[in-house]
Amino acid sequence: MPLREIITIPHETLKRKARPVTSVDSKLQELIDDMVETMRAAPGVGLAAPQIDVPLSLIVVEFGDEEDEEAPKKLFTLLNPEITRPSTEILTGMEGCLSIPGFVADVDRHDSVVVKALNRRGQPVKVKASGWLARIFQHEVDHVNGILMTDIATKIYRLEDLEDDEEHNTDEDL
Ligand code: NI
Repeated sequence: MPLREIITIPHETLKRKARPVTSVDSKLQELIDDMVETMRAAPGVGLAAPQIDVPLSLIVVEFGDEEDEEAPKKLFTLLNPEITRPSTEILTGMEGCLSIPGFVADVDRHDSVVVKALNRRGQPVKVKASGWLARIFQHEVDHVNGILMTDIATKIYRLEDLEDDEEHNTDEDL
């Protein structure tokens, strides 16, 4: 399983809407395995196929519980993901993106969402998420729609300009 190269701005693929996944075949399974490996190696907590220059609507997210470091991480592989039932409550939070190295951004996100998608076997799933996990899903679904955090940010920072008290964990980039 080879690692794939993560593309960065201003690569054209990052600005394009991805095509839906239409066949769940062995080639797709290989792509998913490569994406998981690439996300872990980055390291990051989410990766969308356009970030490895594959214009398909496919995301992987690996989430570790912030409250419980002993809990096993949960891996989500979602094909054709859509954000539904967004909460009216909006939270502002700081995000980093593997495709925008050196920067972080304040982005307003829905506090909770339900992601409708297919799992890696092509079966329909609904994933309810709130807080940090909901933010990760919204960031990754934006990627498959050609939207970057810097397109919708309320504020963009250079990592090197951040004060020590607003330190950003780059291993939580998306
Ligand atoms: Ni990103």
